[in-house]
Amino acid sequence: MEIDLNKIYNEDCLVTLSKVPDNFIDLTVTSPPYNIGIKYDVYNDNVEWKEYYDWTKEWIKELFRTTKEDGRVCINHYLSCGQPNNRHAPLMKINEIAKKVARNILDDWFEKNKHSYDAVEEPLEYVEEGNDFLVFHQNL
Ligand SMILES: C[S@@+](CC[C@H](N)C(=O)[O-])C[C@H]1O[C@@H](n2cnc3c(N)ncnc32)[C@H](O)[C@@H]1O
Repeated sequence: MEIDLNKIYNEDCLVTLSKVPDNFIDLTVTSPPYNIGIKYDVYNDNVEWKEYYDWTKEWIKELFRTTKEDGRVCINHYLSCGQPNNRHAPLMKINEIAKKVARNILDDWFEKNKHSYDAVEEPLEYVEEGNDFLVFHQNL
């Protein structure tokens, strides 16, 4: 294993996650940048939303790969902002990205394993029901 336990890695999360084996993490608690223009020392918190969500998709893919089947990922983000007629809802978008990532992973798995199973009922309810992000801190 490339990563040491009980050690703090101060580096890009994608670099750190790339060192983590599959199905390894029980719990992730994270507060990613919100892309609302906070003045950080080294990070630009005001990028194009496409760039932001493309990057979000990368770390979510890595979290799906590294999280155990019964693990959990807790993401602190904001529900929505903007005017009532022009609301932007990052948490909902992240939920959508996570569902697509999960569906692609399951589709790939079934494609690779389809010869081993005579009749497989795709457990798509995994991504369709019950696994949306929870939006309450007390459910952590
Ligand atoms: C919303 S803040 C979270 C702050 C944190 N909860 C704390 O109390 O210090 C987002 C943080 O993510 C960091 N960040 C931005 N891009 C990152 C990346 N690729 N990998 C790891 N951290 C990153 C930013 O520098 C910022 O400190």
